[in-house]
Amino acid sequence: MTMKRLDDFRLRLGRDELVPIMVGGMGVDISSADLALQVARLGGVGHISDAMIKTVTDRRYKTKYVKAKQALYKLNVDSDDKSVVKFNLGHLAEATRLHVEGTMTRKQGSGMVFINCMEKLTMNAPKETLACRMAAALDAGIDGITLAAGLHLGSFALIESHPRFRHAKLGIIVSSLRALQLFLKKNSRLNRLPDYVVVEGPLAGGHLGFGMDWAQYDLATIVAEILQYLKAEQLDIPVLPAGGIFTGSDAVRFMEMGASGVQVATRFTVTRECGLPDDVKQEYFKANEDDIEVNQISPTGYPMRMIKSSPGIGDGIRPNCEAYGYLLDANGKCAYITAYNRELAAHPGEKRISVKDKTCLCTQMRNFDIWTCGQLAWRLKDTSRRLPDGSFQLLSAAHVFQDYQFSTDNQVALPEAEVALA
Ligand SMILES: Cc1cc2nc3c(=O)[nH]c(=O)nc-3n(C[C@H](O)[C@H](O)[C@H](O)COP(=O)(O)O)c2cc1C
Repeated sequence: MTMKRLDDFRLRLGRDELVPIMVGGMGVDISSADLALQVARLGGVGHISDAMIKTVTDRRYKTKYVKAKQALYKLNVDSDDKSVVKFNLGHLAEATRLHVEGTMTRKQGSGMVFINCMEKLTMNAPKETLACRMAAALDAGIDGITLAAGLHLGSFALIESHPRFRHAKLGIIVSSLRALQLFLKKNSRLNRLPDYVVVEGPLAGGHLGFGMDWAQYDLATIVAEILQYLKAEQLDIPVLPAGGIFTGSDAVRFMEMGASGVQVATRFTVTRECGLPDDVKQEYFKANEDDIEVNQISPTGYPMRMIKSSPGIGDGIRPNCEAYGYLLDANGKCAYITAYNRELAAHPGEKRISVKDKTCLCTQMRNFDIWTCGQLAWRLKDTSRRLPDGSFQLLSAAHVFQDYQFSTDNQVALPEAEVALA
């Protein structure tokens, strides 16, 4: 018997046939356009992300959205009431179009580029801003939208009247059969099923769809339940497991269960195309198993996995909602503001305060100071070579992609050694 490779399978999305590897969205430009485009070139599905989109376009396309918003609300900086801080929908749409168009015009190959939209970015007007984000991405030619973190049952309806509503790929991320059932029920009126479902288990990076009891859940069990349900209901929706799929063989095991593809992310954090700064990529390489924790410092209310030495943990920076404000809820509140003000009141006159229980996620993610990762990030050191100076050799996205695609027998291929030029 020959050992199967992931490349022996294909991901079918409607009439399209793809290499069954989806690289998940990694917020605030960690899954950069370069990374997504490389994946699409190789026939898979890459994701860009619309998290903090204005910051991303300012950095990538030299726009000045953040400055303009900060100037507009500068009189509010000292106030602990952030409810007046609103997003200009015109600018939000413009920034989204810039990022998406800037990516899609460079696309080559037979794969696809999707955008990850986290619904927990409620932006002080959850419905209006989400509708605006999705419509702008569709206008700008994105191949598909993956709705994530904080999935709202009525979200497809927000773009129901968009001309591309039935043609672009629309997918959701869930962490339980129950969440999927609720979504399908609420969504049935639209007569438009999701084109794919990512089933994210407890070992994933970013925010978790589980409580602090995440360790009691198991991805394969959840995937099996969902596959069984879809079969019983005769619903033909491709399922893509995610979270802790580290090798091509891990992926093949899910394909043999009936999955249509896999979503992976952590292994791509140490590629050259990934948007993290190079010194942070080295931190990902170096992380040991006990350097990784799941904590509750994200103001979203979801547990989040990260490297314990992330500089953003315990940092007490003043909330930056006038400039950012992506996590302000429908009433202009964020759990970090509350925590920050409590510490400020407890330590009057102190120049630097520390806030332990929450983090200013906007500021910290913007600065790459929260190092979120999957549970198996500690194995990254086994995916590369050590250079003479002790650092790890960065990988190419193509190398990691093709390792997933072609490896057998739980192997991870090392990159070719970089030869120093004399
Ligand atoms: C650095 C990093 C950032 C992430 N950011 C997001 C995000 O913004 N939105 C999202 O839906 N998932 C996010 N995730 C989750 C991934 O898209 C993916 O589903 C998951 O990490 C897969 O598990 P793996 O990393 O073990 O392969 C992130 C993961 C990582 C490692």
